[in-house]
Amino acid sequence: MTVTLSRGYDRADWASAFRNVAVELDDAPLLAARGTIPPELHGTLYRNGPGRLERGGQWVHHPFDGDGMITALRFEAGQASLRNRFVRTEGWLAEEQAGRFVFRGVFGTQKPGGVIANAFDLRLKNIGNTHVVRLGDQLLALWEASSPHALDPVSLETRGVSLLDGVLKPGEAFSAHPRFDPGHHGAPRMVSFGVKSGPRSTIRLMEFATTFEPGGPQAGELLSERSDSFKGFAFLHDFAITPNWAVFLQNAIDFNPLPYVLGQKGAAQCLRSRRGGQAQFWLVPRNSGAFAGQEPRLIDAPEGFVFHHLNAWEDGNEVVLDSIFYADFPSIGPDQDFRSIDFDLIPEGMLERCRIDPVAGRVSTTRLSERCCEFAMVNPEREGLQARYAWMAVAERETGNDPLQALKKLDLETGERRLWSAGPRGFVSEPVMVPRPGATGEDDGWVLCVVWNGARCASDLVILDAATMAETALVELPLAIPHGLHGSFEPA
Ligand code: CO
Repeated sequence: MTVTLSRGYDRADWASAFRNVAVELDDAPLLAARGTIPPELHGTLYRNGPGRLERGGQWVHHPFDGDGMITALRFEAGQASLRNRFVRTEGWLAEEQAGRFVFRGVFGTQKPGGVIANAFDLRLKNIGNTHVVRLGDQLLALWEASSPHALDPVSLETRGVSLLDGVLKPGEAFSAHPRFDPGHHGAPRMVSFGVKSGPRSTIRLMEFATTFEPGGPQAGELLSERSDSFKGFAFLHDFAITPNWAVFLQNAIDFNPLPYVLGQKGAAQCLRSRRGGQAQFWLVPRNSGAFAGQEPRLIDAPEGFVFHHLNAWEDGNEVVLDSIFYADFPSIGPDQDFRSIDFDLIPEGMLERCRIDPVAGRVSTTRLSERCCEFAMVNPEREGLQARYAWMAVAERETGNDPLQALKKLDLETGERRLWSAGPRGFVSEPVMVPRPGATGEDDGWVLCVVWNGARCASDLVILDAATMAETALVELPLAIPHGLHGSFEPA
């Protein structure tokens, strides 16, 4: 199938998504403007992302500093409804009351009053804006530099910071990128990690039960953990799992905290690519796998910078890791406005496959696609296993960097691509692949995606057939959701 893509976009359409979410809706009924909501689609799509980008006339320096807002889209019997709530973090509550920024943001947002007002204020504002997942009876709003916030999965009411039943110490970092093991070692699990960074960095790897079995562990219970220390400052946003390994890519990054301490920059603006530095794969044995109890394997990695991985799997002794590589670490300096960034000056994300041989210490790399992409996933049942298909957000143009306007299904075996485009006035977010109940085919299901509609200045939900990428339904949401981050689908 060939899809002819329109070229070009209006920058104002893209930038119009940067705004404050003005309302919190309760079970607003949704109707398909085109097509039909599939009756078998039963469950909730949870999305997280920055919902508050301005206070008292001051804009955040980077949208990643915006307060987390959760959107829940519920589907049942061909009907759908929407509920949204801000995560009631300590910072959100204080700033709502003050009507201005009270905390500095990690990505460079300053409190009013200039450098003097910001210097030596090293309090972290846990904004809970990066990902949202269900664990036991909690919905967790995740933000990697601190602990999760727990919400009621139905009402979205914030219960407060969760230490996961005493697993975490107060304020302990917990990644925003848990991975869901679909059953490599019996029942499904959530595998996640926390990083304590410094001249030496420590990764705490944790595995949690996600299902309840009579006589077995409760959903949300910690099943196992291990901690490993590595030389150097670790910046780890994401990781991947296989049945035997937790796979980390340590980028060659340095952190110079001085401008942060002195009130000149946000902490994340103090990260810099280390010239001539060597990135490394850190393969940490999972406690339930064949290498349990052994030391991590460290293997030199190719040049480039990675935020997100698609998936990992084992091929004999080799670990195969598919990741989105950037030529360099993208950063927004103190004097730049995020709404006027020049896409041509920022490196684009490229899907690449690394075959890692931990015994020989060798890595070979192949590029899987030339098109700028982000937010890639496989069928959740194939997480950690070899998958044939991947779904991702891509640019309309075949090459070069542009905003993400299309969704792509990639056949990792044949290279065949199928595209759905939101262009020229639509901008996609992370696609979530949902298998059809009882599906046997890997691509049997739907792709759900919240799309910024620049013509309506509001958000749409698109439901695609995951096999053909044909549009099944388009729902115009009664809400304007800024460009978002991650989310997950929880079957009913
Ligand atoms: Co992420």
